[in-house]
Amino acid sequence: MAEKDFKDIVSHAKEYGFVFPSSDIYDGLQAVYDYGQNGVELKNNLKQAWWKAMTQVQDNIVGIDSAIFMHPTIWKASGHVDSFNDPMIDNKDSKKRYRADTLIEDFASELAKTDQAKADHIVSEMNRLLSESDLKGVYDLIVAENIKCPISGTCNWTEVRQFNLMFSTQVGSVADESSTLYLRPETAQGIFVNFLNVQKTGRMKVPFGIAQIGKAFRNEIVARQFIFRMREFEQMEMQFFVRPGTELDWYEKWKETRLNFHKAIGLPAEDLKYHIHEKLAHYANAAVDIEYRFPFGFKEMEGIHSRTDFDLKSHQEFSKKKQQYFDNDLDENGKPFGNYIPYVVETSVGADRLFLAVLCNAFTKETTVDGEQTKERIYLNLHPALAPIKVAICPIVKKDGLSELGQKMYKELKTEFNASFDEKDSIGKRYTRQDLIGTPYCVAIDYQTLEDQTVTVRHRNSMQQERMTLEEVKNLLRSTATMSVLLNSL
Ligand code: GAP
Repeated sequence: MAEKDFKDIVSHAKEYGFVFPSSDIYDGLQAVYDYGQNGVELKNNLKQAWWKAMTQVQDNIVGIDSAIFMHPTIWKASGHVDSFNDPMIDNKDSKKRYRADTLIEDFASELAKTDQAKADHIVSEMNRLLSESDLKGVYDLIVAENIKCPISGTCNWTEVRQFNLMFSTQVGSVADESSTLYLRPETAQGIFVNFLNVQKTGRMKVPFGIAQIGKAFRNEIVARQFIFRMREFEQMEMQFFVRPGTELDWYEKWKETRLNFHKAIGLPAEDLKYHIHEKLAHYANAAVDIEYRFPFGFKEMEGIHSRTDFDLKSHQEFSKKKQQYFDNDLDENGKPFGNYIPYVVETSVGADRLFLAVLCNAFTKETTVDGEQTKERIYLNLHPALAPIKVAICPIVKKDGLSELGQKMYKELKTEFNASFDEKDSIGKRYTRQDLIGTPYCVAIDYQTLEDQTVTVRHRNSMQQERMTLEEVKNLLRSTATMSVLLNSL
């Protein structure tokens, strides 16, 4: 899918009530978005699929919902205060701020069109300098390669500085350092600091997991590609606590389990791949991203990290509260494994990024040639369980009791399935409207319905129509459009 199509997807998202720029009537707020009437349904369905797949379907994972504000020392212990940074640089003429690495990468990807070897060399040099925290070296590289500001066209740069991505705010009436709180940049820490609360109250036995869905905030310097990189977003994270020494087996298991989830929600296998991290963070002993082929290339959608005991150990040190677990299972010598700080395998996916992947995958443009005429049809090929609306009830005319009959059937369906009642415009226009938001089935009520109570079901993808009773419609929906259908395919 080309960049051009991505623009179509972004405008489709706005035009059909999926995603709006935040504060739209004030010309928007960069990198912040609102979900509209259809977007919120799709996003809720995705969150529900993830939640059920990670808790209900598992025997040993429970969920929590921790607060966004947390004790500021948590972010010291996690390393975010000291090292959750991006290198930034300002152009003195345009006053535009850039992420230094993105500036270099963009330059290199243009250069790659004519000189791939040089482009590769520049990127690897940049990676080396960044890994050595050599910001002066990064600046020198930008100047040496004569990398210009895309706005001013000049090379008049400030030095490269580290920029912490956490948003801070003040609690209480006195603004000083001790009252500074951070908006959480990840949901994971809320899980770590509740590890013992959950383990004890839930009598959980290692290996077990804690899952959470919630907002996270990052002051991204470069926010682009629509909802791919936002300043306020939602994460779906799970920390799996295991016995030290078993973590790499669990890491492999979760790699596979999470890839299967993405396939089950309808993302094609050929558009998904693993990207194994060669360079690991100091606390990780294995890390992989699941990448999806977005219209702008393969990019990270989910991260799976074997994080050792780094976080719990660090919280133990900073809080002075033991974060240990007593394992009374017996080792090969018949002795209990005893006390230890569990190791953690983390799975972390952005709800918005998953939404974007699903939307990009579903966006379908079909062209058919009919004699001299070329016709184009757009529909969202969403898994029926994820579709915002499962079924639209459409009386073919408003008169002769069809409207009333339609309303009666609509009432019967809507408590079990998200349904809509639509009697405005021609039936063709109504089908098109539903196609554009991904409704898998439309039910037409016609004169025959008055006689034998059967309706015509029109299928979104094939556009084929078949006659059935309302009871059969319900069964069709139950067997294709429910969360349990999706979960059973895992
Ligand atoms: N606890 C680990 C963690 O937060 P991460 O790779 O920084 O790891 C995990 O983030 C996932 O969160 C990413 O794979 C992505 O899906 C999502 N994510 C991260 N930053 C994001 C942003 N600015 N906007 C939207 N989603 C984001």
